[in-house]
Order: sequence, then C-alpha cells, then structure tokens
Amino acid sequence: MSLSYAVHERSDRRPAQERDAILANPGFGKQFTDHMVRSTWTGDRGWHDAQVCAYGPFQLDPAAAVLHYAQEIFEGMKAYRHADGSVWTFRPEANAARFNRSAQRLALPPLEEADFLESLKQLVQLDVDWVPDSTSGESSLYLRPFMFASESFLGVRPAQEVTYSVIASPAGSYFTGGLKPISLWISEHFSRAGKGGTGDAKCGGNYAASLAAQIEASENGCDQSVFLDSVEQKYVEELGGMNVFLVYQDGRIVTPALTGSILEGITRSSIIELAKDLDLRPEEKRISLEEWRADAESGQITEAFACGTAAVVTPIGRLLSTKGEFRTGPEGDGGPVATRIRESLLDIQTGRAEDTRGWLTRLA
Ligand SMILES: Cc1ncc(COP(=O)(O)O)c(C=O)c1O
Repeated sequence: MSLSYAVHERSDRRPAQERDAILANPGFGKQFTDHMVRSTWTGDRGWHDAQVCAYGPFQLDPAAAVLHYAQEIFEGMKAYRHADGSVWTFRPEANAARFNRSAQRLALPPLEEADFLESLKQLVQLDVDWVPDSTSGESSLYLRPFMFASESFLGVRPAQEVTYSVIASPAGSYFTGGLKPISLWISEHFSRAGKGGTGDAKCGGNYAASLAAQIEASENGCDQSVFLDSVEQKYVEELGGMNVFLVYQDGRIVTPALTGSILEGITRSSIIELAKDLDLRPEEKRISLEEWRADAESGQITEAFACGTAAVVTPIGRLLSTKGEFRTGPEGDGGPVATRIRESLLDIQTGRAEDTRGWLTRLA
C-alpha cells in the first residue's frame, strides 16, 4: 500500500433520527452518507492527498477534461452488515482488478489494489452507521469508487491531473414482494459497444451510449434493452448494466462468451463458479438471438435471467422487437433456477451461508 488516508471527520453529521428514516426506505442512488474519499494523481507526483472528508461537491474548472472527453471510469459494489454487526464486501479484489483494466483502457493511472481496498475500509469505518442490516433481506451500502480527468486542459491527450473518489449510498431491497421478471427490448438501431471499443471497460461513456436504447425500450413498454453484437447484429451481448444467462432443461446455464465488447461482471463469474455446487453446468459461448428464440419456443430454455451487483439476479420474462415477441421464462415470480442462484449468492454476501471460497472481505 502506498497511500495513507487522512481522516477529516465532519462535525455536522446527519442526526441519527434522520439517518434512520433514510435507512428505513433508502431507494437506490439518491441518498449519500456523511463522508467521501478523494485523492489526486498528477503526472509529476503520482497519487497524493488521499483523504476521507465531508461529502460535498467537487470544484471543477469548466475546462476539466472529463466534461469534454469523458475520461472517466467507475466501479459498483456493496457492503453488507452481518448478524454480528460486522460489515463485509464481496470479491473487492475483482473490482480493483477491473478498475485497473478500465483505467488502462481509458488512459488513466493505475491504483494499487491495496489502496483501493483501504479507501473502501476508511469510508465504511467512518460511516459505518449508514450500513443497513442485511440479515433478513438484501439491504446494503452501495459503494461507488470512480476516477476522472480533473485537469483543466482542452487538448485531447491523457490528463495529467486525475481525481479518485469513493461515495456510498444506502440501498434497499431491489425487489419488494417477490422477484418480478423484466421485459427486454431488442435494440436493432443502437449498439452499446463495438470491436476494439470500450465495451469491456466500466467507463461512463458506455452508459451514455446505452441511454437512447433505454428510451426506445421504455417507449415500447419494456423495462430494459438487450444489446446485440455491433458487427452482425446477431449475437446476444448484455443489457445496459447486467450480464445475461439462459437456463436449459438439461442443466446447462449458458452466458455469452466475452468478446471484448461485454463487461466481465463479477456476479457473472461468481455464478459460473457457484454453478457446480447447484448441480448446474456453466457454459460460455456465442448465442444468437435466433437460437435463444428457437430454444425458448421449443422449451429447451426454461428460464433466462440478468445478473449484476445492483439487482443480483433478475428473471427475464419476454423479449420484444419490431419483428414480434417471445416468452423466455415462466410468468409470475421467475423460475426456480434463477431464484436458487439469487438466494445462494445473497446468502454468502449477507453472511447467512458460509463463505467457503474466501469471497468476503471485512470492511468494519
Ligand atoms: C454493462 C454492465 N454489464 C454487466 C454488469 C454486471 O457487473 P457486476 O456483476 O460486476 O456488477 C454491469 C454492472 O456493473 C454493467 O454495468
């Protein structure tokens, strides 16, 4: 570890009563804790001025490169409070590694894994009262590390001043009253990412590129868009913020192979590892939309689901496009396999099941 975080605790924390009212019904991504992490990188000094300080706005010059050229990356992870009060997060080394892969692709400086982990620990320890109780449901403290080009300069080149920050936001159960399958709009006009692009990096620009397709999905009465490969518009890639699995009658669970334009989800890779414990056979391969349709219609595909940190596992009910629609999972509460995988993951994350793989790291 090369950084030591100075702690500037604020004297005007939110009163306990106000905080508890927020924790009772936090929603997602609207409420933030009392503190944040920030540190600065410059070409001549490297990382410095690492600190935990009061949550508040950045002062950015209007010429800050991120505002013009989107040189920015982020991560998303969750901290869970276990029954004994301790607070844990899930596979943070994988997030640290992905953050550095994203940094490399966006020409941002690397951050040592130990410095990344320490930033999470420092923030969660100071704002530990903001971590909801996860023992009976799936409430958590969502952690958002991010890095952006803060140099004020309009030339197009890698920034020589970069800011790293972590903010935290309490998150409630994604589904209240049972799992509800989502409907997907098959995006025919828009690609999220292309060959040689930034699809396998977690950078803000990918999400900006997905929004027009999201509008199209909403206009067609769907919850989200599913993106196809940008070359042939034939193979299934992923949703705007989640990976996809198809469940086959013969015990296989199949997910699109990583092509460079798909984000390698940590939930996705955890499900691949967990599958064996659940008597499922994971497979990574290219899946055409036509194959999905045919196998769903013949009954070989019994369920489909999306997965990611925010919602863990979300059943997929129907797919729609200008050419028609097909059903890919049971009506109602989602299928048994998606439900079982979801519960297995959540049981590990929230401490209800033993963590036999060393996936959890204690934060507080
Ligand atoms: C585009 C995209 N794909 C997949 C995922 C799922 O990744 P993870 O399981 O690491 O949250 C996310 C969410 O982070 C995402 O933004």
